Amino acid sequence: MKEFSAVQAAALAALVEPERFSTGRSNRELHLKDISFHQGSLPAGVIWPVTTEEVSAILAWSYDHDVPATPWGAGTSTEGNPVPTRGGLVVDLTRMNRILAIRPQDLQADVQPGVLRKELNRQCGAHGLFFPPDPGADASIGGMIANNASGVQTVKYGATRDYVMRLTVVLPQGTVIHTGCKAPKSSAGLDLTRLFVGSEGTLGIVTEACLRLTGLPSHVLAATIRFPDLAVASKAVAVMIGSGLGPAALELLPPGLIGLMNREKGLGLPEEPSLFCEFHGISDAHLKETAALAREVCEACGAVGFQYATGEAERKNLWRARHEAWETIHRAHPKNETLIVDAAVPISQYPEMVVFSQELVDRHGVVGYVFGHAGDGNLHVVLVGDPADTQQWRRLEAVNHAIVEQAVRVGGTCTGEHGVGIGKRKFMELEHGESFRLMRQIKDLIDPKGLMNPGKIF
Ligand code: LAC
Ligand code: ZN
Repeated sequence: MKEFSAVQAAALAALVEPERFSTGRSNRELHLKDISFHQGSLPAGVIWPVTTEEVSAILAWSYDHDVPATPWGAGTSTEGNPVPTRGGLVVDLTRMNRILAIRPQDLQADVQPGVLRKELNRQCGAHGLFFPPDPGADASIGGMIANNASGVQTVKYGATRDYVMRLTVVLPQGTVIHTGCKAPKSSAGLDLTRLFVGSEGTLGIVTEACLRLTGLPSHVLAATIRFPDLAVASKAVAVMIGSGLGPAALELLPPGLIGLMNREKGLGLPEEPSLFCEFHGISDAHLKETAALAREVCEACGAVGFQYATGEAERKNLWRARHEAWETIHRAHPKNETLIVDAAVPISQYPEMVVFSQELVDRHGVVGYVFGHAGDGNLHVVLVGDPADTQQWRRLEAVNHAIVEQAVRVGGTCTGEHGVGIGKRKFMELEHGESFRLMRQIKDLIDPKGLMNPGKIF
């Protein structure tokens, strides 16, 4: 579906205010790429609904007219998740950006899907609350739900999935359903909320979500811990987790990446294999005790240096640098793209995965940064290259494949947090086997024409 006829365009424009539908080339091109190298196919038009009713009318129309519909949030995904692959209509949810209610007594917020994570946390912060899943990027809540996003604080607080209580979803044919409830618990039947979380807009569009919130930590302490090599550092991770210290962040960083961060952000950190960690506590005394224990544990594991990030500014700089790690790699390698591995494994398998991945990178002679959300067993290997150099790109793909195969072999996953999108589809069969067939059957049941975000996951 490349272009809309004049009749089709008029019909779509009539479903919303006319200025909220466009077939203009620049609007279409703006929805052709997320932050990855994945290329989409130019959509025929973009529509900006503002209510559930409008989304329902749009999807009902698209379904009747066999038009593929691809939902769009903030465009910050890394696997081509919101990129149209068969043209058609992009349903841009950025104008459904209202926080409908914050209910501090219930620790809940009701939001539209286009609300951005940082704005939600700004408003919740006024009540001493926050929505913890933190992928670094200022993603939209709808996109985070679609991807089951997580990030640096997941080791303590969990992923997006753990914060979604109730959803309003428009199904591919326009039917509006509500899943879950606002009670803290429920045993009432199949968990449809969790079916939609992580479904990447392939089963419908979330138009409202009730989110669970949690209290902001009153006391925070960050530290960087240095190790003689990555293997020793990653071994300390399992010990830290097993010791019940409950870090709020536990990130593995290699010297090469710390070097790039130092040059860009002037962090002045020693360029040695490191863990960046953070603890949240109820008092300074509690935090100091926890940190002292963490230091003891790490030194027993072979740590060679332990440094507190004292002061708010230093701590913020450290995490900002970590959050921007991927962009920093891009800026350090202009004219290149990155292929990003996002495997996750049981925590006991993490050290071996790290060593295995670093050896693969070295053996294939490719540029690759091995780091990750170590506390979650989540490994990122950012491989750098030029997709036009097919030989080189094939080497990156080989590294990617080998790491995923190893992760799945030890009971892990091809994607801990970035979602399947376009890039990880090839691993679905490998990871899920027979249960991928059931996933397909569910997809076919809900979207028999295969029009919702086609070319993703399935
Ligand atoms: C990160 C993103 C790439 O952890 O997930 O930096
Ligand atoms: Zn990450």
